Amino acid sequence: MIKASITATARFLPEKVVTNYDLEKMMDTSHDWIVTRTGIEERRICSEDETTSVMCTHVANELLEKSGLNADEVDAIIVGTVTPDMLFPSTAAIIQNEIGAKHAWGFDLSAACSGFLFALDTGARLLESGKYKNVIILGADKMSSIINYNDRETSVLFGDGAGGVLVSPNQNDEGFIDSILFIDGGGGDLLKMPGGGSLNPATVETIEKNMHYVQQDGKKVFKSAVKGMSDVVKKLLLKNQLSSEDIKLFIPHQANKRIIDACRENLNLSEDQVFINIQKYANTTAGTIPICISEAADSNLLQAGDYLVLASFGAGFTWGSILLKWGNAT
Ligand code: ACO
Repeated sequence: MIKASITATARFLPEKVVTNYDLEKMMDTSHDWIVTRTGIEERRICSEDETTSVMCTHVANELLEKSGLNADEVDAIIVGTVTPDMLFPSTAAIIQNEIGAKHAWGFDLSAACSGFLFALDTGARLLESGKYKNVIILGADKMSSIINYNDRETSVLFGDGAGGVLVSPNQNDEGFIDSILFIDGGGGDLLKMPGGGSLNPATVETIEKNMHYVQQDGKKVFKSAVKGMSDVVKKLLLKNQLSSEDIKLFIPHQANKRIIDACRENLNLSEDQVFINIQKYANTTAGTIPICISEAADSNLLQAGDYLVLASFGAGFTWGSILLKWGNAT
């Protein structure tokens, strides 16, 4: 059976750093509150012309460079994002054109913070079909484009960034093992951006009512995220007859360090088994997990044969977990 394996990883973070101290000057908040309640110390913010497709194009080009693949060997590009450059054409199409992937098809996938996981699972299925050989999977968001900097409860949580992986076929037992993914629209009202779609197209009124910004019930999202991610990882490990000790690295979505710590305790994992970089980048939505994978790979935290578990939770609600056996990614 063909297995989908991650063969290259890359990330892009905008240069501009916005610290909690910078936010103190913009709103009624404090570095201490943000660090204590979230673990975030700073985040990266795009310049005006650094869009989601610009960040993704950097990532895609680096994936090609690292893997030695020609752009015309790319079969598909899947982009998990809720901040596409525009509703259409898709971000995937813009990236395809920028990198010159003449034989590729692709699409954007909307699953908020689970965007990368849903895209990775979809990409793995394309590979396993035998029809496609090289699929670029990206997770990216320019959250600063949909954040209300007058809303201190939401704005301090987010940053901009992109990450991605190249997925290619593998004949040995390394690569994608299993996944469990969920969607539950019952949680839709707890985390959303209500404006800009067919229900609430942009009008003066939607702008005045701040409907083009992220709105959330932070406390309810927090509890749902801890339960959703902890339960799904337990289920996935049980299904694959693995226990916490078998996991080399757990990469959870980076929304709040307290969510991550609660999941770690629920899963009986040690601090060494959990990858955290939220202090540097905050929540980059679909970007968090591929950025973490890329940093973990560059830091040599993963060796061939190691079990890697990914988990996410986000708007929708969407959540899930993917189990992989690490190969020889560059
Ligand atoms: N600075 C200072 N004070 C603040 C801030 C801020 N930025 N934000 C809220 N406060 C105040 C509140 O007004 C409140 O004041 P009060 O006690 O006088 O009423 C106090 O701090 C406590 O507020 P809580 O809402 O109880 O704080 P909590 O500990 O629940 O933390 C937070 C809030 C950080 C939003 C948390 O609920 C959370 O992280 N939820 C998850 C939301 C999330 O991550 N969403 C992103 C997308 S979904 C995902 O990625 C999983």
